[in-house]
Amino acid sequence: MATSASVSSRVLNSSLASRIMSGDEAAELIEFGTRIGMSGFTGSGYPKAVPLALARRIADANLRGQKAQVSIFTGASTGPELDGALAMAGGIQLRLPYQSDPETRKRINSGEMEYMDIHLGHVAQYVEYGFLGKMDWALIEVTAILEDGLLVPSSSVGNNRTWIEQADKVILEVNEKQPAELEGMHDIYYGMQPPPYRQPIPLVHPGQRIGTPYLNVPLDKVAAVVLTDSPDRNSAFKPPDESSKRIANHILDFLAWEVQKGRIPPSLLPIQSGVGNIANAVLLDLLEAPFENLTSYTEVIQDGMIELLKSGKLTCASATAFSLSPEMMTQVNAEMGNYRDRIVLRPQEITNHAEIIRRLGVIAMNGMIEADIYGNVNSTHVMGSRIQNGIGGSGDFARNGYLSMFMAPSTAHKGAVTTIVPMVSHVDHTEHDVDVVVTEQGLADLRGLSPRQRAKLIIERCAHPDYRSMLLDYQDRAERLSFGKHTPHLLNECLSWHNRYIRNGRMRPSED
Ligand code: COA
Repeated sequence: MATSASVSSRVLNSSLASRIMSGDEAAELIEFGTRIGMSGFTGSGYPKAVPLALARRIADANLRGQKAQVSIFTGASTGPELDGALAMAGGIQLRLPYQSDPETRKRINSGEMEYMDIHLGHVAQYVEYGFLGKMDWALIEVTAILEDGLLVPSSSVGNNRTWIEQADKVILEVNEKQPAELEGMHDIYYGMQPPPYRQPIPLVHPGQRIGTPYLNVPLDKVAAVVLTDSPDRNSAFKPPDESSKRIANHILDFLAWEVQKGRIPPSLLPIQSGVGNIANAVLLDLLEAPFENLTSYTEVIQDGMIELLKSGKLTCASATAFSLSPEMMTQVNAEMGNYRDRIVLRPQEITNHAEIIRRLGVIAMNGMIEADIYGNVNSTHVMGSRIQNGIGGSGDFARNGYLSMFMAPSTAHKGAVTTIVPMVSHVDHTEHDVDVVVTEQGLADLRGLSPRQRAKLIIERCAHPDYRSMLLDYQDRAERLSFGKHTPHLLNECLSWHNRYIRNGRMRPSED
């Protein structure tokens, strides 16, 4: 990065340097009732000063009896300074497309806040077509502003290209904590046209670059530049527990079998790995697995992915964001330059694009809340109505990948809940998009099986022994008594286990 005399060594464009102000001053520019597209994806690259200042303004206004709120659109989840602070102030009217903040979750589930849970790969197009209304503001964290006004993106890209293009006005937060060596790691594709002018996206390898390392911003749109110096606040991964290790082992045995059968090469196909501890455990297990020259085409770079890059097992990783534990983030930030050739950060409309995921033949591995005996998967709603996080990119990858796996422990809430149920209480991924279900009990490969065959296999391989006989009994009676025998169900009973949990705190009948 070139240096030049300016207020900050990170703001090299003199016109934009003249618009530097405090977070409070920038927040004053934002009118209540507006729609704001903010940067941020799984706790990285989100703005850290203006949302906090806006939350304070909103809290003050609400104390004076005003109904002050804004609508917040992001890449995915953010951090406590954004989602947490604005939700706490009662300041969010509509939130999309993904969140995982406890305060936001609480307000959504109490009905105080509207939330739209959207496939992450669809957001840019939704906004560009105007389905979500006019974007008023883009509030984007960047690493630096170059002399010619080009923006060096931060630790995530998400929907930033779209927010900047679609919003009337832009506020940039330049975060000096983000390593300057991020410059050159991003690949921002500007070639997307709307149908019927859309051309093939020319990406045929996970590590390929098809765009430019910088975000463009029309300088006259920029209303404020705010300097910050704060780290991303990601949570730590738990060390893999016994259940995660067993799930990871089942998956690796299965992949080895697929290689042996000649269905995938020894370097596998590009790996997509979802959020959470189990996904991280699978990546860590790959360190010991007999596969080499792996690649990854995914959404987020987690700790396990970095370990694989360090070991040389993984040759390149494409994602839209980092999602690292604080310890790993410190390590990676200190040596960011070493990863620049092996990590590519792209807009989420490209990382999650159906065309590319299908072309590359991605192996998709995502967590789930529950699966039913026919292979439908619920990734988002506890007991059918309480949102946990959101669908994220799981649908983009599950529907379009070469192999779509969903994983969870076979029970939740200390065994009071089975995650293999007669019928899922909310459907995110249908039986048509789910190839493999895995729990610590085992792995069910559903490809090529009819619904009744799938039910037998899922119960036998994946259900916890405490629930297996209940599930077999349900399936047996459904096969005899169901209205139709293709996907047998007892409609007055199939969700009664969830109902029992809501009433009694356990899915098993109380006489057990
Ligand atoms: N019934 C009731 N509660 C359940 C449950 C079930 N069947 N399964 C999980 N839960 C609860 C857990 O008890 C836990 O609750 P707590 O936060 O109060 O402790 C919570 O849901 C999260 O479960 P956990 O076991 O910690 O799972 P996780 O961190 O591996 O997350 C998902 C699992 C499904 C929530 C997570 O993978 C997710 O959000 N997926 C959707 C988005 C996605 O796949 N993104 C990646 C695409 S690139």
